Amino acid sequence: MNARLIRLFEEAGTQYVSGEQISRELNVSRTAVWKHIQVLKEEGYIFEAAPRLGYRMVSAPDRLTQERIEEYLATRLLGRNIHIFDEVDSTQNVAQRLVREGAPEGTLVVAERQTAGRGRLGRHWHSPKGKGIYMSLVVRPDIPLHLMPHMTLLAAVALCRAIRKTVPSVSPGIKWPNDLLLRGRKISGILMESSAENEALQYIVAGIGISCNLEAEDYPEELKEKATSLLIESGAKVDRAELIASFLFQLEEMFQLYREQGFAPIRTLWEASSATIGRQVRMIAHGGTYEGEAVGLDEWGGLIVRQQDGTLKTVYSADTELPGAR
Ligand code: BTN
Repeated sequence: MNARLIRLFEEAGTQYVSGEQISRELNVSRTAVWKHIQVLKEEGYIFEAAPRLGYRMVSAPDRLTQERIEEYLATRLLGRNIHIFDEVDSTQNVAQRLVREGAPEGTLVVAERQTAGRGRLGRHWHSPKGKGIYMSLVVRPDIPLHLMPHMTLLAAVALCRAIRKTVPSVSPGIKWPNDLLLRGRKISGILMESSAENEALQYIVAGIGISCNLEAEDYPEELKEKATSLLIESGAKVDRAELIASFLFQLEEMFQLYREQGFAPIRTLWEASSATIGRQVRMIAHGGTYEGEAVGLDEWGGLIVRQQDGTLKTVYSADTELPGAR
């Protein structure tokens, strides 16, 4: 009901909508209309009322709600079960708990703020309130555990496409395996946490962090040079609900492509969106540090690096640095 009411006001734009028209179009009493408007006001919507003309919506809060995401959602499965929180420690923890309680595939956990958001390699993920997208998605792809790296790369491709579609003025590049960069600075990261029994993958909780509407002063000193946001880069605020829905749609498409044609097309798409291929890289892996030019992905998703002496080294797990990238 609230979603329909919001849509009605959005469609009316700056025009007033009379209580009578609302009650007719939504098939509810005038008292119910008034009550729903009070609920929306409590949620941060601002209305102007004029005698005999009715109401018009002056502004909507920038809050993520299930209704707002569903307004844009065009997926079959992903994001069809949404849990939204004002504050959590980490959406990854919440999603893992929901999985243990039997949450279905496609379950999405979104928070306005995280107090202990985490990234790859045990790093912290800066999650200021209402400024970014902090979400975790439960997926159960029917693949063996050793193909997990394909999922990591596939998710990065989906995220890149979603950002390009939602914010056409920016074009992020992927730093292997799945960091998204703009002007050499990070705007988004993906953390894949999985559970498997022997070689059988049970589920993945895909954690996605996107710096949407952070301003320069929202970053702590140590991130100022390394990170950026879509707002800083494009000059415009991002509709986070639209970007979430767009990502879920792109991800579902990529999963389908992978199911039908395997890794080859994903690899091509990843390479085309890469900020890594053709660049000098420093790969800090467990076994040592490798430097050279990144030349491509192998069939398992490893990054192939041509070292200074001409030999090729394929890296499957490492922290990637792009020396001098901007
Ligand atoms: C990285 O770049 O290292 C990955 C960052 C992943 C951050 C997201 S934010 C939502 C989800 N919850 C977390 O605690 N982490 C992921």
